[in-house]
Amino acid sequence: MEIIIQPDAAAANALAARLFAKLIRKKEKCVLGMATGSTPLALYRELIAMDLDWRKVTTFNLDEYVGLAPEHLQSYHRFMWENLFRRVNIAKKNIHIPDGLAKGIPVFCAKYEKQIRAAGGIDLQLLGIGTDGHIGFNEPTSSLTSRTRIKTLTPQTRKDNARFFGSEDAVPHHVITMGIGTIMEARHCVLLAFGKNKARAIAEAVEGPITAMNPASALQMHSKVTVFLDEAAASKLKLTAYYRWVYDSKPDWQKI
Ligand code: F6R
Repeated sequence: MEIIIQPDAAAANALAARLFAKLIRKKEKCVLGMATGSTPLALYRELIAMDLDWRKVTTFNLDEYVGLAPEHLQSYHRFMWENLFRRVNIAKKNIHIPDGLAKGIPVFCAKYEKQIRAAGGIDLQLLGIGTDGHIGFNEPTSSLTSRTRIKTLTPQTRKDNARFFGSEDAVPHHVITMGIGTIMEARHCVLLAFGKNKARAIAEAVEGPITAMNPASALQMHSKVTVFLDEAAASKLKLTAYYRWVYDSKPDWQKI
């Protein structure tokens, strides 16, 4: 894992955006894994401002709430259209987001996995992290080899996400999410975390034992993970001096 600590979220997002832009420019038909929530918003704004060519880019989103129609204000379909897709020249046919209204969820999930494989796998997977360590909506105790499937949100996640819905009661109980095994097959994972409320989950994910109690800790088993943090999210890490040294001493060819 590469841990990149920046003075603030804006600096971290600018760097992460460069990583995405580099891939989009280099690999015409790249496949990106997308995330939603507060964390990726500034990164998406950076990417929009870069005026990249998205015509041949394919995307797969991590998750969607079960029961929400694409046009629902809090659906992740709506989120992606508002915050990224309608502002870039991506082809609609190349966008994949789990269907919250799917009738047969297991069949839908198997098809989603198949579509990822048919696209050649995910080149770069963007991830946020829940305060409980979830990635996608793989909540604590999720199997570390899980595939796309239905999951039940923890009370903590429903509480965290109540800010989008106006009340906790309005937050759906179920989601469709890529599994940890699915995420682990992406060729490169980029995890973003900002703010003090992510510090514990980040410390456990990066420096704790690999455990289903912190699903993001599974990323320790992945050969290419870049973690972008602001100072607050990095505040509970033990080896910060080492991470900064590694980053500052990078040879030019390794720089983002
Ligand atoms: C969203 C997702 C989640 C979020 C996580 C953090 O697609 O997969 O894992 O990344 O819940 O959410 P925010 O960014 O709102 O703190």
